[in-house]
Amino acid sequence: MKISTKTHEGHIALVTGAAQGIGQAIALALAERGAQVIATDLTLPHQTVDKIGRSAHAFQLDVTEEEDWRSVSLKSRDIGEVDIVVNNAGYFPNRSIDELDLPTWRKTMATNLDSHFLSVKYFLPTMRKKKWGRFVGVSSNMVGLAIPGMSHYIASKMGIIGFMRGLANDVANDGITANAVLPGLTNTAAIRPQSEDQKRSTWEQQAIKRLGEPKDVTGAVLFLTSDDAAFITGQVIVVDGGQYRIG
Ligand SMILES: NC(=O)c1ccc[n+]([C@@H]2O[C@H](COP(=O)([O-])OP(=O)(O)OC[C@H]3O[C@@H](n4cnc5c(N)ncnc54)[C@H](O)[C@@H]3O)[C@@H](O)[C@H]2O)c1
Repeated sequence: MKISTKTHEGHIALVTGAAQGIGQAIALALAERGAQVIATDLTLPHQTVDKIGRSAHAFQLDVTEEEDWRSVSLKSRDIGEVDIVVNNAGYFPNRSIDELDLPTWRKTMATNLDSHFLSVKYFLPTMRKKKWGRFVGVSSNMVGLAIPGMSHYIASKMGIIGFMRGLANDVANDGITANAVLPGLTNTAAIRPQSEDQKRSTWEQQAIKRLGEPKDVTGAVLFLTSDDAAFITGQVIVVDGGQYRIG
């Protein structure tokens, strides 16, 4: 039985990397729950906004550029006060440590980690004013897997978890939470280069034996951005069909 209530009515949610894949699914899910969505990406995410309808807005935002964050935070004031930020945009080239160069390392950190800091810098003030806010970072279950060629990516995705843990302490008094979601292998353009055999060898390690779909990631984000999760902060939710298990 599927119950869809407007749990997010009255909230304005900004999603990065929302043109496709997991980010688009998150934007659609937040809108379905009643949030007004600001979908952002390197180029205007028209398709996402068309799918949602007139209540949604499309902004260009390169998450590595502080000027873009400043500009989007100013433009978003015409819509209202953003109180949910889902940092989903990611950069994930595979490079063995022998091939990894500093520009690739820095671009990985800028896309996957600087973005989180910049989003806080530009959207924390409005959340503080409202005494309500939600930061959700899309990390990866790869932080707990033995995948070669991804040291830079794993470092950046582990950094998101550390940042959320630290941020949680600094914002808690204003009703603001900071958490991370860790998807497993998910059926998006990002994994298109992998063969079906490669994908199968990953999902066969999961308790739930199928490839994850972008929509599978949305439940955790909806929960963490809802009032139901008001007492949950500095945490991670792994969304990978039970591949990565710790504790
Ligand atoms: N697909 C997976 O298997 C998987 C697994 C774990 C985690 N993730 C994470 O989920 C997130 C989304 O991945 P996806 O699979 O949907 O990928 P995707 O390639 O389908 O989408 C990524 C989106 O991010 C945007 N983007 C890239 N750099 C950007 C920048 N500098 N500024 C703004 N937008 C930018 C792209 O334009 C694209 O629309 C990423 O953070 C990724 O690391 C994905």
